[in-house]
Amino acid sequence: MSTLDLPDQGALTRRRIGRIEDPPRPKPSFDADVAIVGLGYVGLPTALAYHHAGTRVVALDIAAPRLTAIRSGEVDLVPDDRTRLRHALDDPGFVLTADVSALSRARAVIVCVPTPVDRYLVPDLSLLRAACASVVAHAVPGQLLMLTSTTYVGCTEDLLVRPLLRRGLVAGDDVHVAFSAERIDPGSAGVKTETVPRVVAGATPACTEAAANVLGSYAESVHRVSSLAVAEMTKLLENTFRAVNIALINEFADICRTLGMEVGDVIDAAATKPYGYMAFRPGPGVGGHCIPCDPHYLLWQLRRERMDAPMIATAMQQIAGRPGRVVDRIRDVLSARRRGLPGTRVLVSGITYKPDVADLRESPALEILQSLLEAGAIVGYTDPYIPVATLPDGIELIGVDEPGAFDPEVVLLHTAHTGVDTSWIGDALVVDATYGARGFANRVAL
Ligand SMILES: NC(=O)c1ccc[n+]([C@@H]2O[C@H](COP(=O)([O-])OP(=O)(O)OC[C@H]3O[C@@H](n4cnc5c(N)ncnc54)[C@H](O)[C@@H]3O)[C@@H](O)[C@H]2O)c1
Repeated sequence: MSTLDLPDQGALTRRRIGRIEDPPRPKPSFDADVAIVGLGYVGLPTALAYHHAGTRVVALDIAAPRLTAIRSGEVDLVPDDRTRLRHALDDPGFVLTADVSALSRARAVIVCVPTPVDRYLVPDLSLLRAACASVVAHAVPGQLLMLTSTTYVGCTEDLLVRPLLRRGLVAGDDVHVAFSAERIDPGSAGVKTETVPRVVAGATPACTEAAANVLGSYAESVHRVSSLAVAEMTKLLENTFRAVNIALINEFADICRTLGMEVGDVIDAAATKPYGYMAFRPGPGVGGHCIPCDPHYLLWQLRRERMDAPMIATAMQQIAGRPGRVVDRIRDVLSARRRGLPGTRVLVSGITYKPDVADLRESPALEILQSLLEAGAIVGYTDPYIPVATLPDGIELIGVDEPGAFDPEVVLLHTAHTGVDTSWIGDALVVDATYGARGFANRVAL
């Protein structure tokens, strides 16, 4: 008899042929419903959403400082998630731990660890491999094991299905295995975690159903697809679509500036069309853990297939080169005023990769600050979320508390956090990489 409560018993019975004489396994007993592996920008809100929906959660992270920060509430969360965290920390049904053996006690284990790229833009799978190895090592019959990190097509098979089989655990038979990419928008209070539909597929139809049930315990909508590969590719399409459109609108911004108009006016007008258009906004580049990385998982995989994807490759090149163009633009603007970067006081306002988060990962500001320093400018930054920033070459910059006292000659508006006072800018030359700033005497668009 199967250790799983599966709707598709016929399929299982067929797969069991040849193992029919195996001794029956004891029914597993679980004291948690869900374990989340990786409590970062995505895993923590997800763990809180599950807990809020009434499930017992094991919240696992290997980084002790991260656990300490979560316990003390010193984490970057939207207000609703902050409230949820307070409730969770008071509840014995929410267990924060670094102990991977706790995974065996959860009915479902959900992996949500980072999938970055290295400095050569090659996927760095080391964290995901290590997390999946722990999950496989502690897997017990009857569990659902679900990957939710963004990754290449075939990864769930490579890192879960096959290693589990090597341990004698057959997907769809002894355990369920599934993929469902996280899609939340960390830091965005407007979109609640549970309202974002989840796309899911399992290694077998029974795995899909088991995963859909677990996701459905908190998510309002679950969309089932036909295979692990389709689910993995769906996430790559979503973020590649965004990357290509961001590259396009950045190019349009440059075109509009050259032709003497505000790109924002053009975007707003185009957005009145009720079909066939989606508004993307230009900026100083992209950051965070998704758009600068995810399409490289696809490009990397296609290289193995000896296949070109020129449109995606060009978009990613444009995205990678955008911070350099920002510095070139500042140089050009100064040069038109018979100035140069050496010795010029440049202040960058807002350095996180998007407004209202404390997330500096891959932020274009880091490369911009470093290039400005290398060009000889006197550089500072101001950002209420980031007291100290480490630049790519390891230099640490301390944020300027009183930007007016820095007396900038050029202000680069990089990230516009809500409610941040910019009255100190006065008559300084403003290079507006947000494309939406108004009311500055001396503003030029990026
Ligand atoms: N950040 C986003 O906007 C976003 C949105 C949707 C999807 N995603 C995807 O979600 C995944 C996670 O991204 P994130 O932004 O939450 O990452 P993150 O860097 O914020 O956090 C990841 C956490 O995982 C922990 N961790 C690493 N290895 C571990 C292990 N073996 N066991 C337990 N914990 C481990 C780290 O200590 C860290 O706290 C990525 O694949 C990313 O592409 C991210």
